[in-house]
Amino acid sequence: QARLRGVVALDGPSGTGKSTVARGLATALGASYLDTGAMYRAVTLAVLRAGTDPGDAAAVASVSESLRLEMSTEPERPGVSLDGEDVDREIRGAEVTGAVSAVSAVARVRELLVAEQRRLIDEALASPGGVVVEGRDIGGVVAPEAGLKVYLTASAHTRALRRSAQDSADGRVSDVDRTRDDVQRRDTIDSQRAVSPLRRADDAVEVDTTELDVPGVLARLRELVTERALLA
Ligand code: DC
Repeated sequence: QARLRGVVALDGPSGTGKSTVARGLATALGASYLDTGAMYRAVTLAVLRAGTDPGDAAAVASVSESLRLEMSTEPERPGVSLDGEDVDREIRGAEVTGAVSAVSAVARVRELLVAEQRRLIDEALASPGGVVVEGRDIGGVVAPEAGLKVYLTASAHTRALRRSAQDSADGRVSDVDRTRDDVQRRDTIDSQRAVSPLRRADDAVEVDTTELDVPGVLARLRELVTERALLA
């Protein structure tokens, strides 16, 4: 069984299937898996619980300095805990989703989380199997040394349909039109923020997933991993 060597960076806007394919790829290649979006979501949950205004950068920074995040990097059992409590489900809810763009635009939050992400990547690389890291700024900022950088895209309509299906599958109320507005609003904020905006790294390979199902995207990623000689 071939295993991944080094880092695969998977970036792109929401609804492109990033999490599903990142986990699938990590599982297939005996690699660790790091969901950096879950980290921004967990900080956002802490901000909301503290009653802090997500738009108050200084207050958000101070919340982010005083919490303890623990990430599981097992692709078959990913998870995030906040001050010892498993918050994996709660961070996917509408409240957190509505506030996460504001929180992830705060420079101090990014500084702390990027440092922690690099530490987790180093930790994963210390054992065999490499690591698949998904987010918005992985290829550009967090792991510029990644052996493969992929930027996933899909049409706005497709992304809204996927988010909506995901919400229904998780038992949340879902409405495609609202989801599309929400996805577009979040993309706009994520791509226009001053610190680490969502953008394709110059050396990232763009994979358009509009017409591909999950096995199709996985096959394409495995092809790229093989081409780059990232299997051991
Ligand atoms: O991938 P996701 O939907 O769970 O990400 C949640 C939010 O976190 C998203 O709106 C952008 C932000 N994010 C970020 O700014 N940088 C990352 N590396 C990952 C996520």
